[in-house]
Amino acid sequence: QAAEAYSTFRLKTSLQQVIEVQDVNELNTINIDSAPIILGEGSNTIFLTEQSRPILRFTSSQRTILNETLDTVNLHVEAGHNWHQLVSWAVNSELWGIENLALIPGSVGAAPIQNIGAYGVEFADICDYVDFYSWADQAVHRFSAAECQFGYRDSLFKQSLTSKGLVIAVGITLQKKPKRVLNYAGLDTVSDSASLQEIYAQVIATRQSKLPDYTKLANCGSFFKNPIISLGAYRSLQQQFPKIPGYIVADNVKVPAAWLIDQLGFKGYRLQDIGCYERQPLVLVNFGNGTAEALLTLVNMIIGKVKDRYAILLEPEVRMLNKDGIAYVKS
Ligand code: EPU
Repeated sequence: QAAEAYSTFRLKTSLQQVIEVQDVNELNTINIDSAPIILGEGSNTIFLTEQSRPILRFTSSQRTILNETLDTVNLHVEAGHNWHQLVSWAVNSELWGIENLALIPGSVGAAPIQNIGAYGVEFADICDYVDFYSWADQAVHRFSAAECQFGYRDSLFKQSLTSKGLVIAVGITLQKKPKRVLNYAGLDTVSDSASLQEIYAQVIATRQSKLPDYTKLANCGSFFKNPIISLGAYRSLQQQFPKIPGYIVADNVKVPAAWLIDQLGFKGYRLQDIGCYERQPLVLVNFGNGTAEALLTLVNMIIGKVKDRYAILLEPEVRMLNKDGIAYVKS
């Protein structure tokens, strides 16, 4: 079947089989020799070619309140729940903690995989645990937030647990009392006493002003991760490029990939039906008839030029899958 409904980048490729599972017990019957590709809502996955492996989606989406105190609410949310609907529900319930993550496309189950983040908050900040169904012993394992090894757009599930099973649910804690995170550009104009609804509305407005709506213009959000380089490397780049932005993370510096790509003049650049979005060059878009070839050509052009000028190696943030489901990695 057509892959377009299963990836918000909508390349015109095809999938052999899509299996949707509602119940954990049904997972025991999946033929793991077929090496299924786990998919949420396809907002961070691009099928470069036809897929020979089946696609597996866990669609159960219950949300349960486990515990409530004067200050907090503990929730258990199944992987198939839509992320933004969870955020909206929390905001309407006056629960703080995930409002900065409004409008991030995709499922709750995908949130811990790459530790989704925006405007100074990431999934790791509210996570208690992740329930992972393992193919090896056909059992559910609960990983505490500390065990998940969350990093910037990274976790255990993207590292050693890749292909070993799937996330079936997460546990999170939300706050009943205000806990505002307003230091990030785009939210810094919001008042220190802003309501939850106001912050939520501002996050949505900021995102809508910069990021293309994938239902109108196919895309997978940020295409590359923001590179993290050593302080020494950053200092020497500053000698040459005094305006280069950077944000300290631990002992290193995170450089906005959007700035590097912007400086190289890619903003609004178009190769056939694949383009670099005019308002946020970190986002690549498909105008309709984009091909994998054009996409990879543009991706390699961007990686190559950034490397030549800044000696920084950009890494894709989006999962791009070849025929056998192996991730495309630039060598
Ligand atoms: N910039 C430019 N030109 C532009 C746009 C941005 O030079 O046209 C530079 C500016 O220096 C700006 C900086 O890039 O200050 C950062 O831009 P922005 O705040 O838009 O965020 P980002 O670093 O490009 C990250 C996440 C987004 C998330 C935003 C907001 C990654 C890979 N991306 O983008 O996440 O929404 O911060 O927190 O970390 C996603 O992962 O799909 C995603 C959209």
